[in-house]
Amino acid sequence: MAGNLKEILEKKLSKKEKEVFVKSFDSLGNIAVIEIPKELEKKEKLIGNTIIKLNKNIKTVCKISGPHKGKYRLQPLKIIAGEKKFITEYKESACRFVFDVRKTFFSPRLCNERLRISKLIKKGEKIGCFFAGIGPYPIVFTKNSFMKKAFAVELNPNAVKFMKENIKLNKCEEKIEVLKGDVNKIASAKLKNLDRITMPMPHGGETFLKASLKALKKGGIIHFYQVLKKETAFDEAVKRAKNECIKQKRKFILLNKRQVRPFSASKIQVVIDFKAK
Ligand SMILES: C[S@@+](CC[C@H](N)C(=O)[O-])C[C@H]1O[C@@H](n2cnc3c(N)ncnc32)[C@H](O)[C@@H]1O
Repeated sequence: MAGNLKEILEKKLSKKEKEVFVKSFDSLGNIAVIEIPKELEKKEKLIGNTIIKLNKNIKTVCKISGPHKGKYRLQPLKIIAGEKKFITEYKESACRFVFDVRKTFFSPRLCNERLRISKLIKKGEKIGCFFAGIGPYPIVFTKNSFMKKAFAVELNPNAVKFMKENIKLNKCEEKIEVLKGDVNKIASAKLKNLDRITMPMPHGGETFLKASLKALKKGGIIHFYQVLKKETAFDEAVKRAKNECIKQKRKFILLNKRQVRPFSASKIQVVIDFKAK
């Protein structure tokens, strides 16, 4: 589709504009989210309208007007074409998610991660889905594993509101308990003996390792995400997790490490899976 988009725009863009044109966009249900380089800002309406013309399901096109920021990891977005709406419905792994693209974090690029972990979950597991956002991890786990229960912890009140709606929409009420608040407080005070914890908080997630380890049973598994410099990403992520295990007199066993996605020219997002005995 991006190919078609470029072909159609080919005649309308200058040589310089063609060079900086970003070829792909994320489709979040009927909202498309695209990066528009500065040099192309004058053509953003044309680009947005062309995306809508080419994709029957896209009704709104938003441009990214800054990086994810703040503790809720929200992405500043501006509508450049189509209907003036920010609430969308997105489908992934036989699950449906409704959310406001401005007021909550959601990344379709973590879809493979959620399925990968679903396949590792053993029957009867109790799982801490920390930094749960609008609920994709616990809901995909409910639909794709035989876990006993997930405890979904999230700070952003808007994300919590949509997560509760999504749990109902996907009929997962019996399997997911939503805990609104800070992972550091909730993991220490309310959770213990978890079999597995997901920590999809790649910026600053290391400051939640201590509380997460306290909530994890002996021999439990943590999926720890980090955005780090390409060359040393895995070593640094392992070092951070291992050091916290040592501090808490737990034995660190590395089970797996993988690149989740490229992040920038110099950084990548990685995940390490480790057992803490
Ligand atoms: C990178 S997003 C991941 C969201 C979701 N798991 C997903 O994959 O779509 C991180 C989430 O953690 C939440 N968050 C940030 N600080 C938190 C904290 N101290 N305790 C609980 N949640 C927090 C943010 O509001 C955000 O929704």
